[in-house]
Amino acid sequence: MSAPNKNFDPVMPAALDPANLQANVDAALAAIAGAEDLATLKQVRLDHTSDRSPLALANREIGALPPSAKADAGKAVGAARGRVNQALKAREAELKEAERERILTAERVDVTMVNDREPVGARHPIHSISEHIADAFVSIGYGVVEGPELESEWFNFDALNINRDHPARTMQDTFFVGSADSGAVLRTHTSPLQIRTLLDQAPPVYVVCPGRVYRTDELDATHTPVFHQVEGLAVDKGLSMVDLKSTLDWFAATMFGEGIVTRLRPSYFPFTEPSAEVDLECFACRGESVGNPDRPCRTCSSEGWIEWGGCGMVNPRVLQSCGIDPDEYTGFAFGMGIERTLMFRHGITDMRDLVEGDVRFTTAFGMDS
Ligand code: DAH
Repeated sequence: MSAPNKNFDPVMPAALDPANLQANVDAALAAIAGAEDLATLKQVRLDHTSDRSPLALANREIGALPPSAKADAGKAVGAARGRVNQALKAREAELKEAERERILTAERVDVTMVNDREPVGARHPIHSISEHIADAFVSIGYGVVEGPELESEWFNFDALNINRDHPARTMQDTFFVGSADSGAVLRTHTSPLQIRTLLDQAPPVYVVCPGRVYRTDELDATHTPVFHQVEGLAVDKGLSMVDLKSTLDWFAATMFGEGIVTRLRPSYFPFTEPSAEVDLECFACRGESVGNPDRPCRTCSSEGWIEWGGCGMVNPRVLQSCGIDPDEYTGFAFGMGIERTLMFRHGITDMRDLVEGDVRFTTAFGMDS
C-alpha cells in the first residue's frame, strides 16, 4: 500500500499568487480613488468585485486547493476583497457627500432676495367697458366729454327742466353736499353734461359722456349708491326720432351683437320731449322665449326685451337755457346705466360684485371689456 501523498504540492493558481492578488487590489484601489463620480464608481465596483472580477475568480480558486492551503488562501483573498470593499464604501460616501454639496450650492435659494415681481392685476370691467363705449362712439364721429362729480344743483336739475318740487330732488334720492340748500350735490345722473357741453360748444354737437353718478340707494344685488352712466347728446339741424332710434340700434348692435335692435316705450323725462324708455332686444334668446315655455330665458325673464335706459328729443326749454334757438336746431339724448350694460353682457347677477373690488372678480376680465 502506498503511503499518503503528503508531499502533494499543487501548482498555486495564478489568481491566488500573492503578487497577482496585490496587483489586483492595487488596480482596484487606484480605480476607486480615480472615480470622480458615482456612475464611474459603479462601473469600478462591477469591474473589481463582480463575479467575473479577478478577485472573485481568486475566491473561486480557493475551492480547488488542498485543505491545508485553503485557510491561508482564504485569509489572503478575504483581506484583499475586504480592502477593496472598504475603499469602495469610503469613496462612495465621499462622492455622495460631494454630490450633496454640489446640489446645495447649485440649487441654493436666496430667501432674503427682494421679490421685484409685482402682481399684474386687471382693469376694472366698468372702466374697460366705459372706454369701449366711448371708443365706439368716437369711431362714428362723436366727442367724449367728462365733467365734475360734485355738481351744482342748477346743472344737475334746474337747467334740465327738473323743477324744485320734482321728486328726484328730494333727500331720498340725492346726496346734498353740506346742507340741503348749499346748492351742491353729487351728480345724480350724467345729464348735466348735456348742459355743460351745450354751454361750451356751438352746434353741431355730438358727444358721449361716461361717468360716475350717485344716489342714496342701499347697496344690494340690484342697487348701488355709486354707479355709472353714459350720456349721449346730439344737437344739429334737422335731427329727428329716426336719428335717435337708428343711433340706439347701432349702439345696441355694437355692444350686444349684430342685428340686436332697440324698442322705444313712451315715458317722461323733464329734459326730453318726447321721451322714451329704451329696451334692448334680448341678445340671449332674441325673443324666442316669448310665449315658449319650452325655451325659457333667464336674461330677459322670457319677455324678449330688457330695459336699458332712457332717451328722447332734447326739450326745447333745455336748448333755450343754453342759448340755442330751438327753431333752428333739434337734438336727441339718451342715458344708459353702465353697470346694467356690463351685467347683461357678462351675465353678472349681483351688482355687489362690481362694487366690492375683489381682484379675483376683476382678473377674470383681464385687460379687456
Ligand atoms: N338722466 C336719466 C336718468 O338718470 C336718464 C336719461 C333719460 C338720460 C333720458 C337722457 C334721456 O339723456 O334723454 O335716469
